[in-house]
Amino acid sequence: MQQTTVDRIDQVAEDVVSLVLRAAAGPLAPWGPGAHIDLALPNWLTRQYSLCGDPADRQSYRIAIRYDPLSRGGSEYIHRFLRQGRTLEVSLPRNHFPLEPAPEYLFLAGGIGITPLLPMLRTAVESDIPASLVFLGQSLATMPFVDELRSTCGDRVRVVPTKQQGRPDLGALGSALDPGALVYCCGPASLLAAVEDVFPAERLRTERFHPVARSFAPNTEFEAVCTRSGRTVRVPSDESLLDALTHAGYPVSAGCREGVCGSCALTVVDGEPEHRDDVGAPAGRMYACVSRALSARLVLDI
Ligand code: FES
Repeated sequence: MQQTTVDRIDQVAEDVVSLVLRAAAGPLAPWGPGAHIDLALPNWLTRQYSLCGDPADRQSYRIAIRYDPLSRGGSEYIHRFLRQGRTLEVSLPRNHFPLEPAPEYLFLAGGIGITPLLPMLRTAVESDIPASLVFLGQSLATMPFVDELRSTCGDRVRVVPTKQQGRPDLGALGSALDPGALVYCCGPASLLAAVEDVFPAERLRTERFHPVARSFAPNTEFEAVCTRSGRTVRVPSDESLLDALTHAGYPVSAGCREGVCGSCALTVVDGEPEHRDDVGAPAGRMYACVSRALSARLVLDI
């Protein structure tokens, strides 16, 4: 973890504040566009936020948080109680949504989904790679960083308040793209579903706020063998692997507990995981908050 101090709190749109977190000592860990950090809040909650500042700035991180009326305590704490000068611990940046090399980019942001895409667009612009951003939100008042985007990226940015203008024709947006262009999208589920209908999976990179609704076979009990201690932990059908390990005394970091943030990644040495996450677990890894086992035992590097 890294120690930071809340340097600035700015209202950047209706119900959205940005935080600038300044390093308490020494430079902060480097990051690239698409990365996020876990924020350890003083109310004992941990929440994940995309970094939306300048990757070259090693003295501070910037994040933005929309107030969620159904908040489980994270955005509510930040909006109502967090004050300038407060010390906060943040994790090292993690990136499950990296900017991959491409001859052209189309970025599609919905609301607070602008946060990971903002540094992506700036990076592409600074690298002279053709790139454009379509930023959708209900109204201008709800859309953060519009002035900043327009001043730094000019006519590469198209701002669409959908209550007035409706959603643009996504197919038309993609029709003039280079055949090797990548499309990056972050926003609400309805936008992601529409984008997935239009763009083929090999050209599309997405990041979700919430998991996709899916159904799985009923949970079954399995065993988790923890190689470092040699202990075996029983994971009953009504408990997650994350909770079973935590209750057995193995501290596994966790954030969303919904399979979207990647905080709870574990290395699988043997056995067959049943992946239920929306991060996209690489080979040999699994996310303990939602994923389970297809085999009777999983051997974990823990
Ligand atoms: S805690 Fe977020 S993916 Fe598991």
